Amino acid sequence: MTFDLLVHNTSEVLTLRGSPAQPAELALSPIARGAVGVRDGQIAFLGPEADLPPDASGPETVRLDARGGFVGPALVDPHTHLVFAGERAEEFERRNQGASYLELARAGGGIMSTVRATRAASEDELVAFARPRLARLLRQGVLWAEVKSGYGLNLEDELKMLRAVRRLSSEQPVRLVPTLLCAHAVPEEQKHAREQYVSLCLEEIIPRAAAEGLARFCDAFVEEGAFSPGEARRILLAARSAGMVPRIHADQLSDQGGAALASELGAASADHLEHVSEAGIAALSRTGVTAVLCPTSTLFLKARPYAPGRRLREAGVNVALCTNLNPGSAMSESVPLAMGLGCLENGLTAAEAFWAFTRGAALALGLGEAGRLELGGPADLVAFGCASHRHLPYHLAVDHARAVVRRGQVVAEQDVDCTSAGA
Ligand code: NIG
Repeated sequence: MTFDLLVHNTSEVLTLRGSPAQPAELALSPIARGAVGVRDGQIAFLGPEADLPPDASGPETVRLDARGGFVGPALVDPHTHLVFAGERAEEFERRNQGASYLELARAGGGIMSTVRATRAASEDELVAFARPRLARLLRQGVLWAEVKSGYGLNLEDELKMLRAVRRLSSEQPVRLVPTLLCAHAVPEEQKHAREQYVSLCLEEIIPRAAAEGLARFCDAFVEEGAFSPGEARRILLAARSAGMVPRIHADQLSDQGGAALASELGAASADHLEHVSEAGIAALSRTGVTAVLCPTSTLFLKARPYAPGRRLREAGVNVALCTNLNPGSAMSESVPLAMGLGCLENGLTAAEAFWAFTRGAALALGLGEAGRLELGGPADLVAFGCASHRHLPYHLAVDHARAVVRRGQVVAEQDVDCTSAGA
């Protein structure tokens, strides 16, 4: 068979055909000196280059020479807040001089400062602001990203954010998975009427988002200063009845029992987990909830400890990593930085970090075919400029993706050569 696209001259092709229960080194399921043949956007050959059929390449075939680099599935970023207006550089300075994230939030800054800017922006402006952020993710090999609302905090502006997500998803190559995060903070105008805001979520925001099909997931920030476990339970149960799958910002700044709540509600993921308890870890393990770690925000907020990634893996939990791109706690699109921190601070191996940004993340978003390469599956893949996945966390916070392929078409390309790093 002659292919439309032939990816060749690789060090290896990582297929990620394993399961989270396996050691990650095995779950990456590498094919040494592998090749990928693509027909009509689907993988039609996946095996050693030496086994390619004689007619694999014809005059019409696009040949993607991996130049000795490795090839893997396109990356999945399972937790972002990439639609927003404004910036918080001054807050960053103040935190570096000793103010805490919660202190700034209590003084009317933090999430509320982004809410004010986002409410003031039009849907068109939100789309325009998010485009370069998405372009930076794409360039690194991300073809799927979850995006949360949560800077509107009223009916009109939460829906405006989700409509911006829908538009962005249809106009550029990174496909977006929308999450309603009306339970991100209680807006300042209802600070003294919390119950009124919870009712607005239950009676208006969730039903309207569901009716317009704007969100696949519903998230809640369970934290002192945000939502109590009881409030989050009511909101997420209502969202679940409306057809959305729950996920939770859990145990980020303190242990609030967020992991146990995620398990109780059958959430797709419990995210952050810096302060998760042993009981919380056991609950995630028992119920198969994915842990999405956000180490960039632990770094950025100077908040310690980092989430216990090693402990979560030892307990058999599927662990994913994310950029958590947002203007307050993680103003960074860098996947290799998050992977590096995943290894240096969460205790993951390089193989676990790669799993965490591919198949592990796809499982967190319920994406059946994403994050792995298989015969007959979509040809969504990345040719990296280094010979091994180990170089992604090791050669910290630089771009590694040389070519990004979506459904057999090259959608991003740059002249990356990391081989001098010893790859
Ligand atoms: O995931 N923790 C809550 N939400 C974001 C931060 C949002 C912000 O500060 O604007 C996070 O870290």
